[in-house]
Amino acid sequence: MRIAVTGTKGQVAQALQERGRDRGVEVVALGRPDLDLMAPATVAPALRAANAEVVVNAAAYTAVDKAESEPEVVDAVNARGAGAVAAAASALGLPLVHLSTDYVFAGDLDRPYREDDPTGPRGAYGRSKLAGEAAVAAATPDHAILRTAWVYSPFGANFVKSMLRLAATRDTIGVVADQHGSPTSALDIADAVLQVCTNLRARPEDATLRDFSHGRRGLHDVGAVCRSGLRGLGGAAGTRGPGRADPDLGLPDGGEAPGQLAARFREAAFAPSSRFAGLARINR
Ligand SMILES: NC(=O)c1ccc[n+]([C@@H]2O[C@H](COP(=O)([O-])OP(=O)(O)OC[C@H]3O[C@@H](n4cnc5c(N)ncnc54)[C@H](OP(=O)(O)O)[C@@H]3O)[C@@H](O)[C@H]2O)c1
Repeated sequence: MRIAVTGTKGQVAQALQERGRDRGVEVVALGRPDLDLMAPATVAPALRAANAEVVVNAAAYTAVDKAESEPEVVDAVNARGAGAVAAAASALGLPLVHLSTDYVFAGDLDRPYREDDPTGPRGAYGRSKLAGEAAVAAATPDHAILRTAWVYSPFGANFVKSMLRLAATRDTIGVVADQHGSPTSALDIADAVLQVCTNLRARPEDATLRDFSHGRRGLHDVGAVCRSGLRGLGGAAGTRGPGRADPDLGLPDGGEAPGQLAARFREAAFAPSSRFAGLARINR
């Protein structure tokens, strides 16, 4: 199988390239300047040249906070850009796997979201991704939309790497305790995407909306937690907002030597039964 993926240096795009190599699947990564979602005219020629059997749209504007100040750009990439990828895939007769996000929901449910829960994005990023889902569905019936959340990986920047970096240099880290989500390894996403690609080629009528959610986690699970609030660690499937420190976590107020915290975090994250099994590749 030969797959064209949009985005070359993105977490999911890189994970797909690695997992593809492992499984003997050819993954052709397409990125700027050859394929620029801000320039829809670049999309069809790049996809045609890739000569693939399935298209994966993993490219997106993912800077959630920054999106509020440039809604035009985020819409161009995540909504119109996604539509352009879907239209080009359709014109070539190729199925499309499109990546989306839990940010299409309002984030105020007290349980993991299901595919058919009502959407209600609260920010520019979520609105653009929801519009992208609609644009994909309007352009081609031959698609699968996969919503994921809190992506981490050995590639690029992500909250797990931020935690490890902070833990290596600080003796305490404060993390909000009222944000919840489903941390998801890009390598696991890549495995799932490859499976969906195989299914779409074999049984296009099975195309459906999938939710990668596998449990609700506290952001404070992800890293070592102390008292003060560390902001800006990304979104969550549960409550969002400025965040509040959890007074009941029983974690140290301080006094650990720099590096000790990182060691404790790694120990917890890499434990055999860890819910963060995908972390094993990071920071070894
Ligand atoms: N990261 C998360 O926590 C998260 C959570 C939920 C859902 N998702 C979704 O999962 C998918 C993959 O996310 P990710 O974490 O792999 O994202 P990422 O690491 O931020 O990578 C985004 C990719 O999009 C590319 N890109 C951005 N603007 C572009 C443009 N105008 N034209 C072409 N390419 C462009 C980037 O290219 P450059 O390499 O050139 O910058 C990069 O390769 C996205 O659809 C995202 O919305 C992500």
